[in-house]
Amino acid sequence: MPYRVYIQTFGCQMNEYDTELVRSLLRDRGFALTPNQDQADVLLMNTCAIRENAHARVYGHLASWKAMKQVRRVVIGVLGCMAQNLKKELLDTHPVIDVLAGPDAYRHLPDLLVHALERQEQAMAVDLSEYETYDAILPERKPGVNAWIAIMRGCDNFCSFCVVPYTRGRERSRPARGILEEAHTLAARGYKQVTLLGQNVNSYGSPDHDGYDFARLLSAVADVPGIERVRFTSPHPKDFPPALLDVVAHHPRVCRHIHLPLQSGNDRILTMMGRSYTRNTYRDLVAAIRKRGDIALSTDIIAGFCTETDEAFSDTYELVREIEFQSAYVFKYSERKHTIAWRKFPDDVPDAVKSDRVTRLFDLQRRISAGHNRRLIGSEVTVLVEGHAKKSSQQWMGHTDSNVTVVWDKSAAPLAVGDRVTIRVDDASASTLFGTPVTSLVPVV
Ligand code: 5AD
Ligand code: SF4
Repeated sequence: MPYRVYIQTFGCQMNEYDTELVRSLLRDRGFALTPNQDQADVLLMNTCAIRENAHARVYGHLASWKAMKQVRRVVIGVLGCMAQNLKKELLDTHPVIDVLAGPDAYRHLPDLLVHALERQEQAMAVDLSEYETYDAILPERKPGVNAWIAIMRGCDNFCSFCVVPYTRGRERSRPARGILEEAHTLAARGYKQVTLLGQNVNSYGSPDHDGYDFARLLSAVADVPGIERVRFTSPHPKDFPPALLDVVAHHPRVCRHIHLPLQSGNDRILTMMGRSYTRNTYRDLVAAIRKRGDIALSTDIIAGFCTETDEAFSDTYELVREIEFQSAYVFKYSERKHTIAWRKFPDDVPDAVKSDRVTRLFDLQRRISAGHNRRLIGSEVTVLVEGHAKKSSQQWMGHTDSNVTVVWDKSAAPLAVGDRVTIRVDDASASTLFGTPVTSLVPVV
């Protein structure tokens, strides 16, 4: 009987995608996958290292698996960014772990697991690679309409707060040919909405010199017959040439939404973060985007970065008020070992001040998002039926072009996953639109 593997994923969409790669790699080597941890011979955790609370969640989970290991034999493996970041230190402090594998080492994972299962010894692979893009491996995707395609991996920006260059290594792009073949395969299997993924997705440059920059690739994926919508995440504001803005503005199947991480609205803090733009050049980019019409913007912000004063924070607050993003993720600064900020700057903003700033930005953004969404009441939006709503299996859920969640009662119209439907918006909260499918009315004679 094959060994059964259970995988739990933490972190970003790239981690979700990597779990799909790992599932595929394991199945090819004769492992079986199980959604039930009680039946598993191997328990794997794909981990995140971006903030300290990501670590804390992993340690919490490990404690419950440790209890499981005390009553039966099971191999425990930690994959992903935290494995890469802490390496042997993690094995030494948590001997309950049998296997460690970093994001570039998944091809070795089946051998590591066999080793641990059959010889009962710890094993690890945490070498970063300059080349690994898992190009020829087709991830094992969840059924439905949504699929991710990783087009590049790693990051060379070294923003001073960020651990990603250390956990995911140097930036490398997948050949365009492999990406486009994958998009065709996805379309043939019924996937309609594709999200292109990369730590720095818009600095994509095809290594085989076939002339694909990110704008051309985005457009080419959106031209694949059967693909109805293309999104991308996460970009950096430094790589938005006009040609890319034009593709987002004009290609009928590229979603009119750009995630544009701001991080801070204060020039001194931006310089310390190593972000390579200023408050004003960021504003100029927003203006260039908005000049091209109605394109939704979302962002990431870090509150309480090293030396952030009340004045510096209010620059961020005022810029968020001015720009009126559709949505924003606000994070409390969390010092990460090995990063430039950890080496050079004091983590000197008291925790209570960080929390207060996060709350203020969060409240501001909630009001802005609610305002955007309420303005849509009475209008019609087009969505793909993606699946059940999170809160009720009696409702369907989809997203607008601008990436706002839309929910409606299933009983209102006979629909299936993958259908394209027009919804009239009846009500709105800061995060969700509620509506009714628009059916063509037969005139009464
Ligand atoms: N502390 C807090 N937030 C962070 N991010 C990245 N590193 C840190 C950190 N050390 C945030 C950034 C990034 C998002 C994915 O996570 O806003 O855009
Ligand atoms: Fe977390 Fe970043 Fe790694 Fe994604 S790439 S899992 S966000 S540390």
